[in-house]
Amino acid sequence: MPSPKKSSRGPAARAVVRAVINVHHATARAIGRETAETLAARGAAVVSVDLSSSGEAVEAITAGGGIASGLVADVTDEAAVEEAFAAVLETYGSVDILVNNAGLFAGLERRPFWEIDLAEWERVLAANVRSVFLCSRAASRPMRAGAFSP
Ligand SMILES: NC(=O)c1ccc[n+]([C@@H]2O[C@H](COP(=O)([O-])OP(=O)(O)OC[C@H]3O[C@@H](n4cnc5c(N)ncnc54)[C@H](O)[C@@H]3O)[C@@H](O)[C@H]2O)c1
Repeated sequence: MPSPKKSSRGPAARAVVRAVINVHHATARAIGRETAETLAARGAAVVSVDLSSSGEAVEAITAGGGIASGLVADVTDEAAVEEAFAAVLETYGSVDILVNNAGLFAGLERRPFWEIDLAEWERVLAANVRSVFLCSRAASRPMRAGAFSP
């Protein structure tokens, strides 16, 4: 997995915003992308962690003078999440904001629950619930050690 690029400007704040955008949503104003652009405009160094490349969103933010980078990782995968956060910490030293945006919703076929097979149910739970636990746990370590320690 490539490391996020270090910025010579140094971040005013540090943020992890995951699942900003992927190639399939390249022209959409997805929630993650809006969030990333808003945080970046307010001085956060934004790291997008998504199944697909966040290249277009990252380019848009950096072209506007913001700090952004992208990592490709499956946030339902414990080892991949740990690796992504290790890369973020190596570059930025801390995590101040986590946006648990990755998830499955709009692309799901609407149908009665009795027609949903178990594999789809487990895929949705992993994307919408397991990922939140894994990323929140990984982010909590630097957060508790840093400015948000009790
Ligand atoms: N759009 C809505 O009306 C709506 C309503 C309720 C909740 N939500 C939730 O808000 C969030 C964003 O919604 P959106 O419409 O912008 O979604 P979206 O599908 O445009 O973006 C979600 C992103 O999550 C990424 N993703 C999915 N599974 C992943 C995984 N395992 N690992 C890494 N990345 C993964 C996708 O690649 C995509 O870039 C989602 O969690 C969605 O469930 C959206």
